[in-house]
Amino acid sequence: MKFETRCVHTGVHKDAQYNSVITPIYPTSTFFWNDLESNSGYDYTRSGNPTRDALQENIASLEGGVGCVATSTGMSAVHCAMALFNPGDHIVAPADVYGGTFRLFNQFLKEKGLKFTFVDMTNAEAVKAAVQPATKGIWIETPSNPMMKVIDLAAMVEIAKPQNALTICDNTFLSPYLQRPFEFGIDVVMHSTTKYINGHSDVVGGAVICREQDNAKRIAWICNALGLACSPFDAWLVLRGIKTLGCRMEAQQKNAIKIARFLDAHPLVETVYYPGLESHPQHELAKRQQDGFGAMLSFDVKDGRPVAEKVCLNSKLFDVAESLGGIESLISFPVTMSHASMSAEGRAAAGITEKTVRVSVGLEHSDDLVEDLRQALES
Ligand SMILES: Cc1ncc(COP(=O)(O)O)c(C=O)c1O
Repeated sequence: MKFETRCVHTGVHKDAQYNSVITPIYPTSTFFWNDLESNSGYDYTRSGNPTRDALQENIASLEGGVGCVATSTGMSAVHCAMALFNPGDHIVAPADVYGGTFRLFNQFLKEKGLKFTFVDMTNAEAVKAAVQPATKGIWIETPSNPMMKVIDLAAMVEIAKPQNALTICDNTFLSPYLQRPFEFGIDVVMHSTTKYINGHSDVVGGAVICREQDNAKRIAWICNALGLACSPFDAWLVLRGIKTLGCRMEAQQKNAIKIARFLDAHPLVETVYYPGLESHPQHELAKRQQDGFGAMLSFDVKDGRPVAEKVCLNSKLFDVAESLGGIESLISFPVTMSHASMSAEGRAAAGITEKTVRVSVGLEHSDDLVEDLRQALES
C-alpha cells in the first residue's frame, strides 16, 4: 500500500469485539490472566498496550522498519536509542544537533562514560577525521536544527561501515513522508512525534524504529526496562494525528517555499536557511535524498538582535513558542529558546547567532503568513 493509505489504515483495526473504525484507547495499567499460564498477549501497560501497539505498527511501516517503540517524549526516544551504547564508546554527532540532545550527550551521557565529538557533518571528511578506534556510533540529524544543514545519509553509512558503527538518524524535521533514512542504510531512526508525526501541538511523544530485528529486540527491551513508553492516551492522539501526515506535509511545505522566497528577497534579511532554495549549499543533496524540502526554515536578519526581537514579537500569526511541526505557524529565537541549553561556544560553532530566527510554517494561507512577516520585519 502507498504511504498515505498506510497512514490511515496500518495497525488501526484492532477491535474484533465491536469493529470500531478507530483504534480504541485501552486506559488500563494491567490485564487479567485467563489462568496462571496464559493471558491475552498483554499483561502490563509499561510492557505492552494495544493502543500503543497500533501506533508502533503504523510508524514502523511508514519508516520501512521491522519494529518501533513509541516513547513518552522525543528525548526519551533519544535516550532509548543511546542506551544501545556502552561506557567507553565514542559517538560522532553534529555540531548543531538539537539543544536537548546536545545536553543529554554532552552532560548526562558524558558523565556516564560515553565520549562524543561534535563536527560539521556537511563535511564528510571532518566526520571521517573524527572517527576513532572506539567509535561505535554516528548520530545524524538532517536537516539540522535550526541551521537546516543537510547531511548526506549514504556518505555517513559508508563512514560507519568499516568501523561497524551504528548509524542513528533523528528524522523529526522531515517525517517519513519526506525522508526515509533506512533507504540509505541507516540502522536506527528516531522521532520527536511531538512534531510532524502528531502534528497538532497537543501531545509530547517520541519513537525509535529499527531496520533490523536484533536492534529492534534490544530497543524494545530497553524501552521496557527503562520505562520509557508513552501512555495509551498519548499513543491514541499521535495515531489520530498521523492519519493526515501526508497532506499536512504537502500543504505546509508549499507555504514554506513561498515564505522562504519572500524572505530571501527582503532587504532586511541577510540569509535564509531553507534547503528548497537553489542557493542553499546542499540543495542538490536535499533534492536527491528527500521527497520534499519540509516546512522548517531559519533566517538571519541584517541588523542583529533588535530586529530579530521585533520580528518575533510583532508577528501576529506566528506565536513565539518552542517546538515545531504543528498545524499552526510558530516563530522562535534559538539563542534563548531551543538552543539555550547549548554552550555559547557550541552555538557559535553551529552558526547560531543573535541574528537567527527560526520559523515552523503551518497550514494557514501563505498570503496571510507572508503579509504577517512583512509587517513584523518592517515594524
Ligand atoms: C530534532 C529534535 N529532536 C528531538 C527533540 C526532542 O523532542 P521532545 O521535545 O518531544 O522531547 C526535538 C524537540 O524539539 C527536536 O527538535
